[in-house]
Amino acid sequence: MDGSTSTVGKPAADYTITQDWAGYRPEQHAVWRTLFHRQAEILVDRAAPEFLAGIAALSVTADVIPDFRRLNEVLDRATGWRIVAVPGLVPDAIFFEHLAQRRFPSTCFIRRPDQLDYIQEPDVFHDIFGHVPMLVNPVFADYMQAYGQGGLKALGLGSLHRLARLYWYTVEFGLVRTPAGLRIYGSGIVSSHAESIYALDSDRPHRLGFDLMRIMRTNYRIDDVQETYFVIDGYDQLFDATRPDFTPYYAALQRLPDLKPGALLADDVPVARAGARS
Ligand code: PHE
Ligand code: FE
Repeated sequence: MDGSTSTVGKPAADYTITQDWAGYRPEQHAVWRTLFHRQAEILVDRAAPEFLAGIAALSVTADVIPDFRRLNEVLDRATGWRIVAVPGLVPDAIFFEHLAQRRFPSTCFIRRPDQLDYIQEPDVFHDIFGHVPMLVNPVFADYMQAYGQGGLKALGLGSLHRLARLYWYTVEFGLVRTPAGLRIYGSGIVSSHAESIYALDSDRPHRLGFDLMRIMRTNYRIDDVQETYFVIDGYDQLFDATRPDFTPYYAALQRLPDLKPGALLADDVPVARAGARS
């Protein structure tokens, strides 16, 4: 094979491909620019300080879809994480193996201009703008690696659906309590215009204190904004609560019924939203 594009789009055994950065068209950079501006405007006083610090540290801007090679120089120096390009969702075992090695699998393609508000599968805006900034934070970076190791274990124990809920309600849709009020750190929220507002401002969803077992019992919605968010006090709480061996937790969960996404239990601890936003 001689053509320089011959490896582009052809997955390796670990599903990685090459981000063809020079191949993005101006219209594609324009979609990124629009998405970035829309989010930057509303996230200043909604996103977690650690997320905003990550964006700044990585010099992710509105100008262009970031070049993964440039991001990796910063990310590697900060926490030893690297972005690897993948064509789309990869098999669970492959995904966990990457995380366990501090490699974050990111898609390269960007949504079409008619998909600014909603797209079902992850694209480069969700993966890079949404996920990568938090990987600059040392505690969160360690949590993500531990999650990958836990994923490989959960696969072997037939409990992946439990652990997937933890990812969903923290990495994708997590809220954090700060002195200034509730803030967003979940990538599924920060990469969605509507949900960045709804998650903090709406009276509809439940906002409950982080509870590992409660989360692993709770189903989630993939086709609409969430009915329940879980609020952490900080990333140490997340890391400490998930440090123990989950094997007995998975066993105990088999005797407890699953909960609907919008369920509210007598001993749930709702987190006050009133006066939360400064
Ligand atoms: N401690 C968990 C286990 O033994 C692994 C894990 C770590 C899971 C961090 C999620 C997050 O399975
Ligand atoms: Fe995601």
